[in-house]
Amino acid sequence: MSRLSAGSSPMAAILDLARWAPSGDNAQPWSFCLTGPERAILTVRDQSATCLFERDGRCGLMSVGMLQENIRIAASTVARRIEWTRLGGGDRAPVFACTCPLDPYVVPDPLARWIMCRSVNRRTYATAELGSAACDALRAGLSPGFTLRLAVGRERRRWAWMNQRAARIRLDTREGFDLTRRIIDWGVDVSEERIPDRALGLPRIMLGIARLQLSSWSMTSFANRWLGGTCLPRYLLEWRPGLACAAHVAVEADRMDDSTDGWLRAGAAVQRFWLTATGLGLHHQPGMTPLIFARYVRDGIRFTDHAPAVAAAHEAADSLRHLLGPQALERAVWLGRIGYAEPASARSIRLPLERLVDGYAAETEAPCAS
Ligand SMILES: Cc1cc2nc3c(=O)[nH]c(=O)nc-3n(C[C@H](O)[C@H](O)[C@H](O)COP(=O)(O)O)c2cc1C
Repeated sequence: MSRLSAGSSPMAAILDLARWAPSGDNAQPWSFCLTGPERAILTVRDQSATCLFERDGRCGLMSVGMLQENIRIAASTVARRIEWTRLGGGDRAPVFACTCPLDPYVVPDPLARWIMCRSVNRRTYATAELGSAACDALRAGLSPGFTLRLAVGRERRRWAWMNQRAARIRLDTREGFDLTRRIIDWGVDVSEERIPDRALGLPRIMLGIARLQLSSWSMTSFANRWLGGTCLPRYLLEWRPGLACAAHVAVEADRMDDSTDGWLRAGAAVQRFWLTATGLGLHHQPGMTPLIFARYVRDGIRFTDHAPAVAAAHEAADSLRHLLGPQALERAVWLGRIGYAEPASARSIRLPLERLVDGYAAETEAPCAS
């Protein structure tokens, strides 16, 4: 029988809820070491060498910020305060000690209700406007220091256009192919470590074609070159859903602090936004591709030798500056779309807590494995 369950200790119960935090491609780049009933060590995995979207580590740190915010929210429901101490690790793979002492003054955070049901929805949404009460609630949901921009009406076309152009980077490069193949779980509705194909938002028949095409790079590059291979996926994955939504969203930092702590704070702010949206009955899909690759070209990060993809990244940078202003790449931390929709029938789930815990180090236990 497993020695670890949510009931094992207050910290295990908090982590068991918090692990439902989102992460790019459901990678869950973290592990925990339980060092006592109220203590854990959080170790972050550096994905910069293995993931095309993580070359600069910023998205990974945002995911960790989302997890940390979940931990804080989960702890609040059992009258516990969270304290973090940075123990070391590199900028992209920090290690933290976390404690959760009882604190009668902690107020339960109402966003806790939405932690498990928040999920990305990649299908089309209703185009009905959000209404001012929902917009105000979304803005109020963000942490101080961050603002929300909503692009509605005809402006959605410009965002959808930018997204489908930027999708060529993912669809037309060897690096994008390798990543896509690794992260899709075929023929399933739920996946613990990856994205189920049925959560991609593609019609069933297209899933079969996509699976066949992704079976080899030669098949993909042949289809891309001679059969207009990226046109249909760009239409189905970006253009159509980009129009079928209430708004495109951008979360911007008033003054971005481009440090590890700055990206953790940005992640926490976005998690509050996403949970607030879920509580309002809204659906959300992040659309980070343009921003990630625009920052790569700004920072001189080499991500492929495929010249059209590099050109597409430059184009994304120009589009973002056009849509959000000259400081777009310095201020924007999150892009996506939002709206009312039918719930998605498939989703990523999470690794069980016992697989995320890689050691125990309480006085009576063996040292942490890592
Ligand atoms: C930093 C970050 C970037 C993401 N970028 C995208 C994206 O560009 N497109 C997308 O469809 N989903 C994106 N996602 C959503 C994740 O794929 C999703 O959260 C993860 O697979 C877990 O699924 P769930 O949110 O349904 O629980 C992103 C999530 C995070 C945290």
